[in-house]
Amino acid sequence: MSVPTHGAFRAPFASALASARFCCRSRRVLASAWCAALAVNVAAPLPAAAKTPPPKPALDASAVAAPDPYSADTAQQIFAEGGNAVDAAVAMAFTLAVTRPDAGNLGGGGFMTLLVDGKPYFLDYRERAPQQAIRDMYLDDKGSVVPGMSTVGHRAVAVPGTVDGMWEAQRRFGKLKWKQVLAPAIHYATDGFQVDPRLQQRRDAAAKSFAGKTNFDAYFPNLKAGATLRQPELAQTLGRIASDGGREFYEGRTAGMITSQMYGHGLITSQDLSQYKALWREPLAADWHGYRVITAPPPSSGGLGLIQMLKMRADLQPAFDGLALNSAPYIHLIAQIEDRVFADRQRYIGDPDASPVPTAKLIDDAYLAQRAAEVKAEVKADDAPGAASVKPAADGAEATEKPQTTHFSVVDKWGNAVSNTYTLNGDFGSGVVVDGGGFLLNDAMDDFVIKPSGTGPASTPGVASTAGAADAEPNTIAPGRRPISSMTPTLLLKDGKIALAIGTPGGSRILTTIFQVMTNLYDFEMPPTDALAAMRFHHQLLPQKTIYFEPFRPAPDELAAQLKALAYTVEQQSFSGDVQMIRVNGTTPEPGSDPRGAGVARVIR
Ligand code: DON
Repeated sequence: MSVPTHGAFRAPFASALASARFCCRSRRVLASAWCAALAVNVAAPLPAAAKTPPPKPALDASAVAAPDPYSADTAQQIFAEGGNAVDAAVAMAFTLAVTRPDAGNLGGGGFMTLLVDGKPYFLDYRERAPQQAIRDMYLDDKGSVVPGMSTVGHRAVAVPGTVDGMWEAQRRFGKLKWKQVLAPAIHYATDGFQVDPRLQQRRDAAAKSFAGKTNFDAYFPNLKAGATLRQPELAQTLGRIASDGGREFYEGRTAGMITSQMYGHGLITSQDLSQYKALWREPLAADWHGYRVITAPPPSSGGLGLIQMLKMRADLQPAFDGLALNSAPYIHLIAQIEDRVFADRQRYIGDPDASPVPTAKLIDDAYLAQRAAEVKAEVKADDAPGAASVKPAADGAEATEKPQTTHFSVVDKWGNAVSNTYTLNGDFGSGVVVDGGGFLLNDAMDDFVIKPSGTGPASTPGVASTAGAADAEPNTIAPGRRPISSMTPTLLLKDGKIALAIGTPGGSRILTTIFQVMTNLYDFEMPPTDALAAMRFHHQLLPQKTIYFEPFRPAPDELAAQLKALAYTVEQQSFSGDVQMIRVNGTTPEPGSDPRGAGVARVIR
C-alpha cells in the first residue's frame, strides 16, 4: 500500500534519539518533562529502583490465560527473558494487534487493571471523541440517525488510546526494555501466523458491512483459515513504535499516516493525536465474600455494575437459598438485579471527567440493600421490569452483541497481576485501515448515545449505541469525551494478594458474564473449568423481560417453558463471552480459558 501524500506528516523518526530530539523541539505539543522521560526511557532503562522485583517469588509459577496461542507464547517468551506481568501484558497486547486483527489493536482502546508490588492500579486508555465531534454528528438534517455512520468508515473513528496505554504501563512498571516487549509482535507481523477458522468467519461477516465503504478488503483479502498472514506495513509500524517509543504513534510518522487517512473523510487531527494521554485512575474497590474486588471505574459501566450485582446477590442470599443455579426462579431473581444495574448505568454513567458519576453512592451498601429489597421472588404483573425505579429511558437499545473485543489475564511469580480488556468495538472496528500503517481503526464513537432523547422531530426517544449504552446526557458526544464502556478487567485480592484475575469480551454481556463465573466459583464453589463451562444467560433492562441464552449451553426446553411462564421472552444469542481467568489457589496459579473460544491457559515456570 502506498502512503497518501496529502497532509502527511513526514518527520523522520529514524532513531530513539532522533525521536526524543524531535519531540523536544516540537514545543506545540509536548511538555518538557515528558520529553525528558522519553529521552531517558528510549535511550536507557528507568532507574533500577522503579523496576526491582520483590526479592522472593510469591507464587509457584507465572501463568497466563490468553485468547490465542500466539499471545500465550509471547507471554512465555517474555517471562523467559525475565519480564514481569506488565511486560508480558504489553507484549501480549501488541501480539494480539497482529494475530487478532478483529479485536486486538493499535487503533482502538481499553482498560488495564493491575496489581504491582501489592498495590492496585487502573489504566484508562479508552478512545476519545475528536475535537471536531459534535452531539448530533450521526443525524441527518431531519434529525434521524444515518444508518451505519457511527459504525463503519472514517467518521466512526475515535482517537485511539492503546499505544499510549501500553507505553504508560510498561514505562511505569515493566522490567524489560520497550523494544523487547514489541519483538514478538514484530516477529508475527513479519514472518506471519496461521489464520484460525474463526478469524476467517469474522472477516467474512465484517467484510460485507465494509464492502464499498472502506479499504478493508484491499488489506485483508486473504484472511483464509490455515493461510499464513504476513503484515509488512504493520511490522514497520511496530518497528517505529519499538525504536522511537509509544508517542511515535501520536507524534511521529504513524500519526501522519493516521491524519492522512482521515483527511477529507474523518475528524481526527494531528492535535487530537498529540493531545491523547492514557489516564491512571483510582480503581473501583469493594469487599465481597472476604475478598477485595478491584475493578474498572467510569467511563466503564462494568465495574460498577459488577459490584452492584455481587452485593445485591449477597444481600438476597436468603431468597437464593435452596435455589438451583440457573433454575427459572434463580434466573428471575438475577434478572431483577440486572434491571436495577442497567437502569443505573443508563441514568448515571459517562465520562467522569465530563460530568461526575456518583460512584460512591452507586456501590454504597445501604443503597444496594434498598435496591435489593425491591427484588421479589414471586411474579406479579406490576413487578415486571421496567416499572417504577427501573424505568428505561430509551427505546431502541437492542442488545445484540457480537464477539468483538478481547481480554487476557496474566500473573507473575512475584505476585503481580494484570487483567486487560481492549477493543476496536465492532469486529475489525470501522473497517478503515491506515494506509501505509497496516492497522485498523476503531468505531468506538458508536459507544456514545448517537441520538440523544428529544433530538429530531417531535421529541423522539434517544437511540443508544449498538450495545445499548446509556441514553443519558453524560454519554452524549462532545469533543474530547470518552464514551461509556462495559469493559471490566477485574482482580480479586485475598489479604492483599492476588486471588483471581478475570475478564471477557462481550459488550454489555461482559459484566453479567464475569458475575456468573465469579458466582460459580465463590457461591457454588465450582472448580475453575466447571465455572467457565457452566450455562450462561444474559438479561439487561432493554429489551424488557428478555433472557438470552447461547449456543454453547442452550436453554433446555423445560427451562425455557418455565421462564415463559414467568412472562419472559427467551432468545438465543450468538455469543456469550471468551473469559480468560487465573485463579490463585494459595500460591498456585490455576489459569482457565473459556471453552467457547480459542484461548490458551498456561502455567509458566
Ligand atoms: O467498550 C465497550 O463496552 C464496547 N466497545 C465493547 C465492545 C465489545 O465488547 C463487543 N464484544 N463483544
